[in-house]
Amino acid sequence: MKKSFSDCYDLVVYQIYPRSFKDSNADGVGDLCGIISKLDYIKSLGANAIWLCPIFKSPQCDNGYDISDYRDIDPLYGTMDDFDRLLAAAHEKGIKIIMDFVANHTSSEHEWFREARSSKENPYHGYYYWADRPLNDWRSEFGGSAWEYNEATGEYYLHSFAVGQPDVNWTNPKVREEYKAIVDFWVNKGVDGFRCDVLDHISKDFKKGLRRNGPHLHEYIREVFGRDHLENIYTVGEAETTTESILATCGQDRKELKSVFQFSHLAVGRRGKYTPVPHRMDEVKKILVRWQRFTQKHDLLYILLTDNHDRPWFLSRMANDRELRYESATNIAAAVFLLKGIPFVYEGQEIGCANSHYSDLASFNDVECLGYYKENEGKIPESELLERINFGSRDNSRRPFAWDETESHGFTEAKEPWLPYATRSKEINLSSDEKSEKSISRFYRALFALRGEREALRRGSFRQLKRFKRNCFVYVRENEKEKILVVCNFEKAQKISGLPEGKLLLSNARRQSGANGEYAAFECAVYELE
Ligand code: NOJ
Repeated sequence: MKKSFSDCYDLVVYQIYPRSFKDSNADGVGDLCGIISKLDYIKSLGANAIWLCPIFKSPQCDNGYDISDYRDIDPLYGTMDDFDRLLAAAHEKGIKIIMDFVANHTSSEHEWFREARSSKENPYHGYYYWADRPLNDWRSEFGGSAWEYNEATGEYYLHSFAVGQPDVNWTNPKVREEYKAIVDFWVNKGVDGFRCDVLDHISKDFKKGLRRNGPHLHEYIREVFGRDHLENIYTVGEAETTTESILATCGQDRKELKSVFQFSHLAVGRRGKYTPVPHRMDEVKKILVRWQRFTQKHDLLYILLTDNHDRPWFLSRMANDRELRYESATNIAAAVFLLKGIPFVYEGQEIGCANSHYSDLASFNDVECLGYYKENEGKIPESELLERINFGSRDNSRRPFAWDETESHGFTEAKEPWLPYATRSKEINLSSDEKSEKSISRFYRALFALRGEREALRRGSFRQLKRFKRNCFVYVRENEKEKILVVCNFEKAQKISGLPEGKLLLSNARRQSGANGEYAAFECAVYELE
């Protein structure tokens, strides 16, 4: 990673959920050697960085977001030698590696917590939050009280997430020293960046009832990531954000993070996590435009994304994942990934993965959706509860990657994968996609190749052509030399006129006419303007 933030515009990040990417040792779980074997595939998409969801030692109660040793690899995924090989092989191919930094909580199996819970006098006791009785009525994100009783000390500890994920007490300077050393351990190995899990949670204010964005947040972030030797390390924070907090965290003079995810457009089309609500792509567009303008005005990096391991597929909720799956998936990619910012592609998105439908609870693993099920069992009819889980479970996007159409989809040689394949994996898999005339992954390759060739699509300015309001998204990216027009028609066919004409660069519909004229549902086209 180079010094200036501006170089980050050259990144195209591919997010890997290691359990579900590629299994190399026939145990049904994806692993590091599996990833090594697919680096050429990732490169072929035009990605030049990988964000690896946690691969550290963990009891896996939240699939690795419960870390019991920050300096070791979980045997499920391989060994440290495998990691070193992955890092070297990726670097050789020009691919950077971004690690997941999970610092709001550890696993309850982490040595710190095992020590901490043993007695009040233990030196590690102050690494966590303890109270004689629950300090408040906070609920865990995964259901139930956020306070859990610990017999040995007769106290309660805080866990914002699962019982097995106690929150770490960042007010303790020793804790901050530990995390600095952990960051340095991985930086010394040669990793290129960190994605920081629920980072806004590391500062709390019990008196004010604040679970996140507490008074010391910026000070802590600066203490860890503002150190000079990390200047070239890319960082992206996970935090619920307002424009003010993004400015405060990512301003070029802040010495905190290079970027922060912004998720508000991903809340469109659902109330809470499990209930769909009517929506239009126009709502997403409005939010994207607002953030494009804001980040552009303040010279901040913006993350371009629609999917990750914490959400059901955007395509299934927002567009047509049946008859118009190709058109929808490619349209969404053009609308989002040609904006100004850093594209984050989540594994499977590039083949148009869609939500699954299962009618038994045994086909789910996500601790969050299982917690939701438990909390609502008996209150909501079972069939409806299952529908909700099918709609909102994080498992939708966590099912093993289908590389081909065979029984085990080229994912594993084991009889069963760790989580059942997506229910449409016979239809939606890489090899079928690549054979199809309407190939989503081919479109992705073309899109990122274009982005790579055209400076204007990376560093150029963004300008929405506002008069095209009706369910389509029309914008221009430009610099002194290039001017590129992106036209994305949403949902229904319509005629678009009044556009400047130019040379066609990319289309998801073999467009014959120029920029003006009829656009089919979810048709998109990109033009070079004079
Ligand atoms: C956000 C992660 O992305 C999610 O998968 C995890 O469950 C929580 N943080 C807790 O670490």
